[in-house]
Amino acid sequence: MDALPLFHRVRGERCVLVGGGEVARRKLELLLAAGAAVTIVAPECDDGIEALAGQGRVVLTRRRFRAADLDGAVLAVAATDDPTTNRAVSRAAKTRGIPVNVVDQPELCTVTFPAVIDRNPVCVAVGTGGTAPVLARLLRTRLEALLPARTGELARLAGEFRPRVKAAIGSATGRRQFWEQIFEGEVAELVHSGRPRQARERLEALLANPRAATVGEVYLVGGGPGDPDLLTFRALRLMQQADIVLYDRLISAEVLNLVRRDAERVYVGKKAGHHPVTQDNINQKLVEYARAGQRVLRLKGGDPFIFGRGGEEIEHLAEQGIPFQVVPGITAASGCASYAGIPLTHRDHAQSVRFQAGHRRGDTVEQDWESLAKPGQTLVFYMPINGLRIICEKLIEYGMSAATPAALVENGTRPGQRVLTGTLATLPASVAQANVGAPTLLIVGTVVALRERLAWFEATQAEAGKAT
Ligand SMILES: C[S@@+](CC[C@H](N)C(=O)[O-])C[C@H]1O[C@@H](n2cnc3c(N)ncnc32)[C@H](O)[C@@H]1O
Repeated sequence: MDALPLFHRVRGERCVLVGGGEVARRKLELLLAAGAAVTIVAPECDDGIEALAGQGRVVLTRRRFRAADLDGAVLAVAATDDPTTNRAVSRAAKTRGIPVNVVDQPELCTVTFPAVIDRNPVCVAVGTGGTAPVLARLLRTRLEALLPARTGELARLAGEFRPRVKAAIGSATGRRQFWEQIFEGEVAELVHSGRPRQARERLEALLANPRAATVGEVYLVGGGPGDPDLLTFRALRLMQQADIVLYDRLISAEVLNLVRRDAERVYVGKKAGHHPVTQDNINQKLVEYARAGQRVLRLKGGDPFIFGRGGEEIEHLAEQGIPFQVVPGITAASGCASYAGIPLTHRDHAQSVRFQAGHRRGDTVEQDWESLAKPGQTLVFYMPINGLRIICEKLIEYGMSAATPAALVENGTRPGQRVLTGTLATLPASVAQANVGAPTLLIVGTVVALRERLAWFEATQAEAGKAT
């Protein structure tokens, strides 16, 4: 380690910032966030700093820096583009034993500003010793994704209970185990999902009886169309803490891979070989596992509330009094359209978009064809493959031009994505010849023509293929 990481309490303390430009303003924001009493020394300042001085939030000394400005300060920061001033600030601070930071000049610093992930009172700081601030910022972005937004609330709750836990649990090992149970279990989840009252009640119950049975819960989570990068932070967090996962056919291997390694995996796809799992059966299993105290992840393709029967599942849970939370996912229409380079709405083409179920019942696909054939909209058909020919014929029959562009997206957002384009008149025949596999999505409308210019995903895939 080239430097010792420390957190510096500056609340109410005099900190001197030399410089009045944009860089100085960024440092000023940090100092004010930490509650410092800031004095700025600069002959001229930008409007933002002037405004803060006008509100009395900083003291402004409008002249060049003098060494005596640092008297009584606990921190000096130089953020000017004048090397002589920067050196003078560094020298004066070092003489007085005051920590000093000079922006972009590590050799003049005794302290550097890290990139900060602020979940007050939890604070993560990433430093590179002034060598690569941009790298520190990139790392911060990644860490931001790992730390749930309410981590600070969890720390505050723990802080409040700490003396009582210390009094109640004699051994240090016992206390460590207790807190691990809190931070990795139900209490943490209740805080993260915005239920502080229940979190507190649960913590009280566990403190009274550390072996109190855990209450099971069901997480109904949208796993998106396939690319694991499209998962939400919350989906990923719940996937990492579930005890058991019930997943569908549409869940890609890459997404399933992100579920906690030792969670039990139960496949409940509608095509489960010789033992198809019925919806009633799934509903029953969810209740059963949750009643046994398990954290049950119900992982569904796309968004659970779009052609996913998620509503039925949670209706059943609500009837049975099982706690649940629902996490939206990127639905196939959004995922496939984005990755195919087909904007679903566009000022010159479509002012609305409609999501339809395209499956065939016998010889027909039941739809309100008259309203679907109207211009100015994009139509997205889920489960279109068996009814494709009928859908295209009906749209033409009800007045849509046979030349209307249409695309069938196969395996959207996944490495094997394929997009077949044509018109309402030609697409069914080209699809019939192309040996298409599930899942597929049909997009109809003049927006499809934009793909010619906007397709991007296949190119990145080809590039990735060359690189491996
Ligand atoms: C039962 S629906 C579930 C939809 C899902 N809940 C959603 O929001 O995307 C299944 C249909 O979604 C579409 N679908 C889902 N993932 C897809 C993908 N990666 N590529 C193409 N179509 C997909 C297909 O039309 C598939 O038949």
